[in-house]
Amino acid sequence: MNHWKLLSGLLGIIILISGCSKEKTSPAETSQAASESATSKDAEMNTGNEFQLAIQSEPYGTTTDGQEITQYLLSNEKGMSVNIINYGAIVTALYLPDRTGKSENITLGFNSLAEYEKKGPYFGAICGRYANRIAEGKFSLDGKEYQLAQNIPPSHLHGGEKGFDKKVWAAESFSEKNEVGVRLSYVSPDGEEGYPGKLTLRVVYSLNNDNELKIDYTATSDQATPINVTNHCYWNLAGTGNILDHELVLNCDRYLPVSDIAIPTGELAAVKETPMDFTSAHKIGERIAQVEGGYDHCWVINSAENQPAFCARVKDPQSGRIMEISTTEPGVQFYTGNFLDGTEASGGYDKHGGFCLETQHFPNSPNQPEFPNTILKPGKVYQQTTIHKFSVE
Ligand code: BGC
Repeated sequence: MNHWKLLSGLLGIIILISGCSKEKTSPAETSQAASESATSKDAEMNTGNEFQLAIQSEPYGTTTDGQEITQYLLSNEKGMSVNIINYGAIVTALYLPDRTGKSENITLGFNSLAEYEKKGPYFGAICGRYANRIAEGKFSLDGKEYQLAQNIPPSHLHGGEKGFDKKVWAAESFSEKNEVGVRLSYVSPDGEEGYPGKLTLRVVYSLNNDNELKIDYTATSDQATPINVTNHCYWNLAGTGNILDHELVLNCDRYLPVSDIAIPTGELAAVKETPMDFTSAHKIGERIAQVEGGYDHCWVINSAENQPAFCARVKDPQSGRIMEISTTEPGVQFYTGNFLDGTEASGGYDKHGGFCLETQHFPNSPNQPEFPNTILKPGKVYQQTTIHKFSVE
């Protein structure tokens, strides 16, 4: 991230205005570009502030099969900005000022579309049709057995060989008085990756002046299908280094113990007196050594009956940056970037260089009927909302 800051300081504004940037664009640049680009039909301007609630778009790159990808730049009056592309519905960057006003990208990502197209750690992407694991990639529905890709053998992970994170989505931006955003949609054909039914999915990212990044998910299907869609951002509120000193609170009294291949045993175990207990603030690194391989588990959110419930609060004491998450989902996968290894495939990020809080249903639910239902039936609407609220202390 440091290398990007340096680069962006020298080149960013010129590159953005010329419209050929594949690199990440920071809020100061976005704001300046917004003021200079009076012709942008997307931009909504507020006056009297260095920063504005605005949305802009720019070409991001071309996929290997020749499809043009666009990057949307959402920014607000607080100097926060979010970059989103319509490949994988990926959040490529999120800039947030720290307590001294210094802005940094606090989400992990690659610098080019070509890197996102390769097999990777799902940086910033929307994962589906079924995020997380399905044991042996198998499930039965209405008496029929389905076999999905076992892309993390012997399990199915994040939708298979080419999940929603590797698709080109249709996109349109919107600008309203109190929020700006982008509506992304993807139609997953019947049989794609082995899943039954044509699924029509819409994901709406929106940003307001309260520093809330909201993600709304809506889907329908013409046949019964499992569905579990999540955003897979890796966060590092310091913008650099590792996340072991970040302080985490999870509004979760229980978590799902797993087998040695990360399939839930079915038990909803109490976190009390275990290293999984984040009901009060603990540094992520405090007890991580007691958890084999690091944290990569689903917690059960103390729920609020379909209203977005408070799920998590994370603070980086150095920068003062805070992220609070609320969601309609019953679970959250807390993953501490255990498989990041500093290589190109990891975007150069080291182990624990970021953490994920993936709001979702429980892993392997299609095979664990005692878990909350993940089967979407025709005529029904799948609807979930997750809100990330950012602040500084
Ligand atoms: C999973 C990890 C997996 C990672 C892939 C997370 O959602 O829980 O086990 O390695 O995604 O990057």
